Amino acid sequence: MNFDLSEEQQILQRMVRDFSRNRVAPLAEELDRDHRYPAELISQMAEMGLMGVTVPEEYGGAGMDPVSYVIAMEEISAGCASTGVIMSVNNSLVCDPILKFGTEEQKQEFLTPLASGEQLGCFGLSEPDAGSDAAAQRTVAEDCGDHWELTGTKNFITNAHEADVCVVMAMTDRSQGHRGISAFIAPMKTEGVSLTPKEDKLGIRASSTSQIVYDGCKLPKSALLGKLGKGFGVAMYTLDCGRIGIAAQGLGIARAALETSLQYSTERKAFGKPISGHQAIQFKLADMATNLDAARLLTYRAALLKGQGVRHSSESAMAKLYSSEVANDVAREAIQILGGYGYLREYHVERNFRDAKITEIYEGTSEIQRLVIASALLKG
Ligand code: CAA
Repeated sequence: MNFDLSEEQQILQRMVRDFSRNRVAPLAEELDRDHRYPAELISQMAEMGLMGVTVPEEYGGAGMDPVSYVIAMEEISAGCASTGVIMSVNNSLVCDPILKFGTEEQKQEFLTPLASGEQLGCFGLSEPDAGSDAAAQRTVAEDCGDHWELTGTKNFITNAHEADVCVVMAMTDRSQGHRGISAFIAPMKTEGVSLTPKEDKLGIRASSTSQIVYDGCKLPKSALLGKLGKGFGVAMYTLDCGRIGIAAQGLGIARAALETSLQYSTERKAFGKPISGHQAIQFKLADMATNLDAARLLTYRAALLKGQGVRHSSESAMAKLYSSEVANDVAREAIQILGGYGYLREYHVERNFRDAKITEIYEGTSEIQRLVIASALLKG
């Protein structure tokens, strides 16, 4: 077993860290305050290959491995967690399923512009009445002979306002339960597609979240992604990949909060010495760093397994569960270390604290991750 990053991974890490420190982090507060989509950052990230990190170069991606993707996601999310989730959705929830299940034509038409960052994608699984119970889909895709007709509402869709394409799940045969769900690639600029206003959120405020309403939206027969009735499996495979991205987002949030805590604690004096000289603070810093490292190792393991092409549902769930809880704990402790200053916007740990919360909710709540892990344990 070797814990060293390859030379290529180290180069990527340095490049993305510099970009995140110099370009992403300085904008994060303004993006958060104004609820502004960071278009200028996303186009620079596209040039760096970050919108399709693991997609082969022949389809517009950077052709790197999943650990490289985790490394890049951590760095971007350390600068701005909203920018991190925009990247993660495009990479994991849109490019990954099209690469795995798409036809050659679908890869040429959709994957190449998405992975190169020329276009942006979103993922339509959740509905107003289908959150944790993802199989309870109400959106219907009716077979109209020469085309599909999509009707229903998708809820809490990240990137919906900027996306060009949605990988969307719909019932093609209600009588079959989850085996009647199919996946589709649906361009957003299609008649019968509309959006509700952006949600006003606690955190990750620079990424848009809204409903997508399909009202008799016509899609060509070629829009089907994967096999008819196999859409639930497509969604679950996709979430196995996506949860690695969110785990990496958690690493970035936690690392940013730890770095601020370290710097502050060496500068701030109390009882005649820097607060880092007091054991009460040292114990907090030690726990934060240890838990962050453990989360990173779980996340790298899930990414390594993905790269080996083996099923990694349980390992992805463990990585996401642990990393998201660490992100919340570390951000909360960071505020405690900074005291009253931590409660102010100026020191950014309050943004880390607000951004961290969603990592325990989206792409499967912590409770759902525990179900996935327990189910794998019990199956043996
Ligand atoms: N890969 C492939 N297939 C899988 C799978 C996986 N990881 N997990 C399950 N399946 C298959 C099973 O083999 C089974 O197939 P068959 O019946 O054909 O044999 C089928 O799926 C049903 O499996 P379960 O009985 O285990 O499914 P379930 O209905 O009990 O649900 C669940 C399982 C884990 C709770 C699932 O519903 C789930 O993950 N829920 C959470 C949904 C979620 O994460 N939503 C997030 C939305 S996306 C988002 O947040 C995006 C964003 O914008 C940032």
